[in-house]
Amino acid sequence: MIKLDRDEAARAILARNDRGGYTVPTDRLYPFQWNWDSAFVAMGFATFDADRAYRELERLIEGQWDDGMIPHIVFHAPSDTYFPGPEVWGTRHRIATSGITQPPVFGMALRHVHEAAVEAGLPNAAERTRNLFQAALRSHRWWLRARDPDGLGLVAILHPWESGSDNSPAWDAALARVPTSTTTAIRRKDTGHVDAAMRPRDEDYQRFIHLVDTYRECGWDPQRQWAVAPFKIADVQMTAILARATADLIHLAEDFGWEAERAELSEMHDRLTAGLARRWRSHLSRFVSLDLVSGENVEAPTQACFMPLVALRIDDAQRQAVQSEIERWHEGMVVGLPSTAPFSPAFEPKRYWRGPVWAVVNWLIADGLRMNGLENLAQRIEQTTVRAIERAGFCEYFDPTTGEGLGGDTFSWTAAAYLVLGRRAKASASGARR
Ligand code: GLC
Repeated sequence: MIKLDRDEAARAILARNDRGGYTVPTDRLYPFQWNWDSAFVAMGFATFDADRAYRELERLIEGQWDDGMIPHIVFHAPSDTYFPGPEVWGTRHRIATSGITQPPVFGMALRHVHEAAVEAGLPNAAERTRNLFQAALRSHRWWLRARDPDGLGLVAILHPWESGSDNSPAWDAALARVPTSTTTAIRRKDTGHVDAAMRPRDEDYQRFIHLVDTYRECGWDPQRQWAVAPFKIADVQMTAILARATADLIHLAEDFGWEAERAELSEMHDRLTAGLARRWRSHLSRFVSLDLVSGENVEAPTQACFMPLVALRIDDAQRQAVQSEIERWHEGMVVGLPSTAPFSPAFEPKRYWRGPVWAVVNWLIADGLRMNGLENLAQRIEQTTVRAIERAGFCEYFDPTTGEGLGGDTFSWTAAAYLVLGRRAKASASGARR
């Protein structure tokens, strides 16, 4: 048997999860195309195949709705290993899709892929970037129109799945108000693939599906959903990713000399960064989301609280506070950053978004730390992530207290993270030796 080196192994996972120009997050557990997974995967592909990287984004856009929303799942081909499938969502797009969205990493990925394609001399790079740029711009307009109708400078999620951090303690209080009744029969498939102790609880699932039922009954109309949503959180993680992606699109618009687009995006960027900046709480040393139903701050200590660093330049006092807070979250951990602070009563090191470490989250957090001059901390997070993957494999997530790999294995976005962060770790190690 030929022994693959780790980069080759990561590329082999992407090849194995390729279903024809798009990549499933992992076989069986997630058998379709997921929105933010594909954006990370495209950046992974960009390290060795810019053409395939574009394809990933182009196939995702096949699912974009006429109003600009990019759905969280595109059901390109049928599969019976996942619940809830297209029949539960009941949306009316040309291709079956879910009815909710996910973090808009797309714009960030587009800039990344574009730069890799130009460097590789890929023909048609400019034209492909231009088409995808227009799709991204339409989606950013949708975000502000549909999810910040009151102009707070913060975009809201109407379903925990939109956040990408499905069962985070950040949603506990808001989700507890959502009824457990459903009109759809719940047939969970995830716990047939993965240990139930590492997945959301049944009660969470009932509430997740109650929300899907509610929005389907609104015909997926954004205004009607906004009016009735029992779950509505202006989320700092989502807003930060949107603001960061907006900055990346501005960069592309400048490169191409598209003045009208640049001006429109700059206005969006100002609105989002101002909204985010208002969410800093110095007594907590982190940013907090806002529950728009109860009017309360979401103070649960989760990874989302540091995500604004990908979009904002913080001041010296904030930088020091963030540094000591992140160090505190690492105490006693084999690998950080835990998705929930270990000192929180909600911390469960093996349960999905209630403690485990996620490679793509670390990728973003490290980017934000670096942008804000916290290079050492950024490197530490990148290097421990790379080491965890080298030890445990390309797992969905990792137990921060032991480094054990959990959830699904052969995960596409973990492979992509390895390809990108592995390079950075090698570069900083060789820089340190010099
Ligand atoms: C889970 C994660 C979400 C991810 C999806 C596919 O639902 O919470 O963030 O996009 O799996 O990997």
